[in-house]
Amino acid sequence: MKELITLRVNGRGHEVRVAPWDTLLDVLRNELGLTGTKEGCGEGDCGACTVVMDGRAVTSCLVLAREGQGREIQTIEGLASDHGLHPLQEAFVRYGAVQCGFCIPGMLMSAKALLDVTPRPTEGEVRAALAGNLCRCTGYVKIVEAVMAAAAGRR
Ligand code: FES
Ligand code: FES
Repeated sequence: MKELITLRVNGRGHEVRVAPWDTLLDVLRNELGLTGTKEGCGEGDCGACTVVMDGRAVTSCLVLAREGQGREIQTIEGLASDHGLHPLQEAFVRYGAVQCGFCIPGMLMSAKALLDVTPRPTEGEVRAALAGNLCRCTGYVKIVEAVMAAAAGRR
């Protein structure tokens, strides 16, 4: 039996009907049309579905939609602002850290959660923050470089 819940995503409230077993990932993609959050493994292993919930990077395939109630959820769609791309997005483009892009929304959200708490991370901290995000295209060097550059405010 479905239940009506309210999810706050990217600063806006949304009422949605969810089944007890619906994941946050399902609801973001299928009910709210926020398809920037990707489904890779569906089992918590790849990080493609990463969103930020109350300031923490979480794999939305492992979060029940009902657990998202009362939380502040941010997806890749909420990263850019009216002023343009987020510095992390600009750095990913500038450093060529994107190939197919499937992993990138999750990478960006993990990186954002890190930089919000640790604005000047070490390379080790960046690598640790991205350890749950798998990429099958680029390797990780350019991705890590891009996060370090965004943190340093390098253009
Ligand atoms: S789809 Fe969620 S971790 Fe892979
Ligand atoms: S850019 Fe293709 S999986 Fe990372």
